[in-house]
Amino acid sequence: MRGVEEVAVADAVVSDAAGRDAVGSEAAGRDDAWSDDAGSDARAGALVAGAALLRVHGLARSFSGVQAVDDVSFDVAPGETVSIIGPNGSGKSTTMNLLTGVLRPDAGTVELDGEDVTRASQEAINARGVARTFQNGRVFPALSVRENVFVGAYARQRALRPARRLIDVPVLRWVSLLAELGLALVPTRGVRRALREIDSETDAQIGRFGGRLTPRAQDAAYTLSYANRRRTEIARTLVQHPRLLLLDEPTAGMNPTETAEVIEQLQQLKSQGQTILLIEHKIDLVMALSDRVLVFDSGRLIAAGAPADVQNDPRVVRAYLGAGRTRRRADAADAADAVTAAGGAQ
Ligand SMILES: Nc1ncnc2c1ncn2[C@@H]1O[C@H](COP(=O)(O)OP(=O)(O)O)[C@@H](O)[C@H]1O
Ligand SMILES: [Mg+2]
Repeated sequence: MRGVEEVAVADAVVSDAAGRDAVGSEAAGRDDAWSDDAGSDARAGALVAGAALLRVHGLARSFSGVQAVDDVSFDVAPGETVSIIGPNGSGKSTTMNLLTGVLRPDAGTVELDGEDVTRASQEAINARGVARTFQNGRVFPALSVRENVFVGAYARQRALRPARRLIDVPVLRWVSLLAELGLALVPTRGVRRALREIDSETDAQIGRFGGRLTPRAQDAAYTLSYANRRRTEIARTLVQHPRLLLLDEPTAGMNPTETAEVIEQLQQLKSQGQTILLIEHKIDLVMALSDRVLVFDSGRLIAAGAPADVQNDPRVVRAYLGAGRTRRRADAADAADAVTAAGGAQ
């Protein structure tokens, strides 16, 4: 719970930021360099030298008049951990949905390793090495934890899906399904080996969550706590060995101890070279993990940079604390979180 004391801390930081704002060269606010075309490369946080794994340019999407994502551009380099922060409703999840084929953009492009995937299906994007979790946590409720994770690994195994390319061809997709069914009924040696690999990979990823998930491996997902559903979902992405891992608020609904565990796990993945794009509003987590932070407000990317720089950016404080605009409850909650956590982040 966020208390009065925390909001007071938040307000104290506003005045601090306001002070910096007054002396800063960018005191004109977020309608300056971030919003004109000349500034678009800077806005994109064109901080990535060399080839980007993910390149997003001019992404836009509206919902019946609401501009949820507005001309957003950024890159993610291989091995980078990039976080997206911003108040509720600022377009973070919509952006992730646009990157993963869940939604189609009105404008803009998404490139993966130089390949245009803007209009590709969710399956095609996943097949190119992008795995994600959802903000509301998505598991198959009637399947066990183990089965939920196993499913993620299954899709990756070529031996089990001999005609998988046909799955995208409407008339011929039954060939692919029949081939899979045949192999399931009469497994070849290659299939048996593939299944053993999936088994051990599934165990390894569940084991990552140690005492939390392993004892629950056979339990149906609908019986799990919210935190364990999130862990199951994360394990399902990890068995895919994604080139790009996208996490939408992976610690939502977790207490501080559980959140710290996730931070540790993500640190470990990061140190193994995993490329991560993380949506998160717990700023201590963002500060601990990110190489770069992208700040969204009202669908726009208003700042990008190293965590410490972004944290002190007047535009960011303004976006969170709603100076000069109606302060919504959700923003205030995010802001209190952000500033409290930022104050606590070492
Ligand atoms: N499927 C949808 N239909 C209509 N409006 C949507 C839909 N998804 C998101 N929005 C709207 O787009 C805006 C951005 O939402 P979202 O991307 O979920 O924000 P965030 O993840 O930053 O909290 C909000 O105003 C939200 O209500
Ligand atoms: Mg969201």
